[in-house]
Amino acid sequence: MSTDYSNDQIAALQEKAKRHLWLHFTRMSTYNASDMQVIVRGEGNYVFDQRGKRYLDGLAGLFVSQIGHGRTEVAEAGARQAAELAYFPLWSYAHPQAIELAERLAAKAPGQLNRVFFTTSGSEAVESAWKLAKQYFKAIGQPSRYKVLSRSIAYHGTSLGALAITGLPGLKEPFEPLPAGGVRVPNTNFYRAPEFVADDETAFGVWAADEIEAAILREGEDSVAAVFLEPVQNSGGCFPPPPGYFQRVREICDRYGVLLVSDEVICAFGRLGYYFGSERYGYEPDIITFAKGVTSGYAPLGGMMVADRLMEPFHSGQTTFLHGVTFAGHPVSCAVAMANLDVFEKEDLLGNVRANEAAFRTTLEKLNDLPIVGDVRGAGYFYGIELVKNKETRETFDDDESERLLRGFLSTALFDAGLICRADDRGDPVIQLSPPLTCGPDQFNEMEQILRSVLTEAWTRISPHSAGRQRPDPAARRLE
Ligand SMILES: Cc1ncc(COP(=O)(O)O)c(C=O)c1O
Repeated sequence: MSTDYSNDQIAALQEKAKRHLWLHFTRMSTYNASDMQVIVRGEGNYVFDQRGKRYLDGLAGLFVSQIGHGRTEVAEAGARQAAELAYFPLWSYAHPQAIELAERLAAKAPGQLNRVFFTTSGSEAVESAWKLAKQYFKAIGQPSRYKVLSRSIAYHGTSLGALAITGLPGLKEPFEPLPAGGVRVPNTNFYRAPEFVADDETAFGVWAADEIEAAILREGEDSVAAVFLEPVQNSGGCFPPPPGYFQRVREICDRYGVLLVSDEVICAFGRLGYYFGSERYGYEPDIITFAKGVTSGYAPLGGMMVADRLMEPFHSGQTTFLHGVTFAGHPVSCAVAMANLDVFEKEDLLGNVRANEAAFRTTLEKLNDLPIVGDVRGAGYFYGIELVKNKETRETFDDDESERLLRGFLSTALFDAGLICRADDRGDPVIQLSPPLTCGPDQFNEMEQILRSVLTEAWTRISPHSAGRQRPDPAARRLE
């Protein structure tokens, strides 16, 4: 495939990037000795760099590009809207695109979640949900409720409130003190379940849900406002909920008057084969936060779906939800979201995920024969592959090995081999896959083949015989 970039242009762009651009969550010193990876265009399930080299987008950008790249009809919907009304705020005014989209989302969301509050991002959605929970409880005469429970290693965003909900100590430490009230509970990583429930996933789920109840009682039941949970937890490497987990959590939340917030910034819009992940797992949250896939990245948009009863205090009298952001529900983004949903419907993308998810799992599970692969887990088009030093004992890599394995080798080797995915060690080392919902068996095989060859090479590079961390008590290790 040819490209418009000459060698001189490529060099000039690198120079400007190295001098002026600051990449997110990226160790910038890397680029003292190497070039930034620059992606210039996308087409379907693939993206291309400046030299025209093709990469399978195994992460949908960043869990975003559900419909794939290069959809001109979606781009044109945005352009048309920009020409008609590029911008008007949702502060005191409405515009047709936000109204139509809110109605369309409400029709797809579970149960009573009929009200949409738009944002521009996932962090803002999470931040908004916590703020709404706090103001709602003040409005109904329960002002002592402000704390939020969330799971260890879970990522819920980077703004200070969302960061207080995030369960990754390393990400939070530079910004402490954070807003008070973030409390951790165990996650649902069955591969690292405590011994006493390690052989029974249902019992593990009961234990993990009951830990939420224990935390509510420990913190004081009238101090807890909400529990934030992803349908499948991303960070740590795709932890699906054990059977019955969400039903039990729902009961616990109801028992103590605590709001259940389903953070679906990744899991909504088809990632799990349904519009909302809560639908897949059969629970009705009080709030759903969303972003990413709602526009498939053709424009930025986020928001929260709110249950009717949470709106009640704001529906009468003089109470206003004292919160808003300039670009929330941007007309162009809403128009793009509508066009994105048209593609979902026209091409039955949810049906594609449901029809192919078993094949995706089976293809990835072939990697289980590699000594470095400890666990393959996930749901829908959302999978994590945990890497271990010893399959038998599930011993993981120590920090030094992890650094050499992930940063020193895997990330670059996978990219060079033509696969964009994520090698992450915010929990135990994992590779994550979250491809566009348009993918099928050909792409699954491509992923498996690239992973097989790169992981085989990784195993030869990392000494399987050197001493590593022993398997620690997961419950203790995971909590901040
Ligand atoms: C579950 C979850 N919540 C919130 C966020 C934050 O979203 P954003 O990066 O759009 O602020 C993310 C981002 O990946 C996420 O995965």
